[in-house]
Amino acid sequence: MLDGKRILLIVGGGIAAFKTLELIRLIRKSGGAVTPVLTRAAKEFVTPLSASALAADKVYTDLFDLTDEAEMGHIELSRSADLVVVAPATADLLAKMAGGHADDLASTLLMATDTPVLIAPAMNVRMWLHPANQRNLTTLENDGIFRIGPDEGDMACGEYGPGRMAEPEAILDSIASALGNGPLSGKHVVVTSGPTHEPIDPVRYIANRSSGAQGTAIAKALAGLGAKVTFVTGPAEVAPPSGVSVIPVETADQMLNAVKAALPADAAVFAAAVADWRVTRAAKGKIKKGKSGAPPKLNLDENPDILATVARMRKNRPELVVGFAAETDNVLANATAKRKRKRCDWIVANDVSPETGIMGGDENAVTLIDAKGAESWPRASKVEVARRLAARIADALK
Ligand code: C5P
Repeated sequence: MLDGKRILLIVGGGIAAFKTLELIRLIRKSGGAVTPVLTRAAKEFVTPLSASALAADKVYTDLFDLTDEAEMGHIELSRSADLVVVAPATADLLAKMAGGHADDLASTLLMATDTPVLIAPAMNVRMWLHPANQRNLTTLENDGIFRIGPDEGDMACGEYGPGRMAEPEAILDSIASALGNGPLSGKHVVVTSGPTHEPIDPVRYIANRSSGAQGTAIAKALAGLGAKVTFVTGPAEVAPPSGVSVIPVETADQMLNAVKAALPADAAVFAAAVADWRVTRAAKGKIKKGKSGAPPKLNLDENPDILATVARMRKNRPELVVGFAAETDNVLANATAKRKRKRCDWIVANDVSPETGIMGGDENAVTLIDAKGAESWPRASKVEVARRLAARIADALK
């Protein structure tokens, strides 16, 4: 999986550093070479000797080590790898990366490198959720840094929540994806996301409350597994992910045209909340309040059903077509019927009644319906739901 690839592994000072020793073993078992760099704090958790023994390579720890500088300068070290991996990426390391600090070997290497960087964050849940950490993450994501995790679960500090470092096997998969060797490498997936805006006149439109969060998370997760993603998005609140090809659209008609133009694809995921109707003829100028005081009458036409159109294609139909069903009642029955009617392969059904807080919220509780039956997933963050769906798509396209 990593034949001949060279990984520069920066180990931060957190309790999860012990898992990094297993990661070193896995990288080598997959045919990769790994050079560990330990921060001063990391040495409190794992010894340079264990890292060096497992890596079968020299371990670097000091910026001002004269022998190291004579043998291999820190600039050269930072560029000698195919990928730089930071695991565990502590809150402090992320802050240094986001702020561009270079006051020790690890941060200097991260500033000097011109190779892609993958981070595996690990920290206490409060630290993870702290606005400063979230700001740093956004900065790093905008810089195009790859990320895996953190996972949600019991933490070494006794608390529960997001902050556990991803398991070494999952980090290994992410390394492969970042190097273009992931389970979806070579696959093309089209994802629709967000609402559509259907104009009434030049200033007014029909829309819905979709934020685009779920579709964005799906596109990100698919790209994280190595897929080439075409992301066709309506005017969403959530910013589109980095590392995907973004096609912004406004209306359902434009979305359909953009999807058709993006084919062929191996899979298509229709997460957009497309408006069902559009105004038959949008006014060219702003509609004025009538003198009579009577409100204008809007004639509506049905929009094209993008999912059903693509699922029914004879030519160019993606191997896997996935739709969503946002329902407020009889979720399972309605979604099962929808899957058959629209002829898609899978439907991801969710209850969007206002009391669930799902529409526009951070979490989702979905049921995956295919030809064989239905499988309910526990309520989780939209990011987690996206990861799980992306992994299922990777399995299906194998
Ligand atoms: O609105 P509805 O419940 O029918 O949406 C189900 C699925 O169909 C969703 O995946 C949605 O993205 C897709 N859809 C579409 N074009 C439409 C309406 C819905 O692609 N005009």
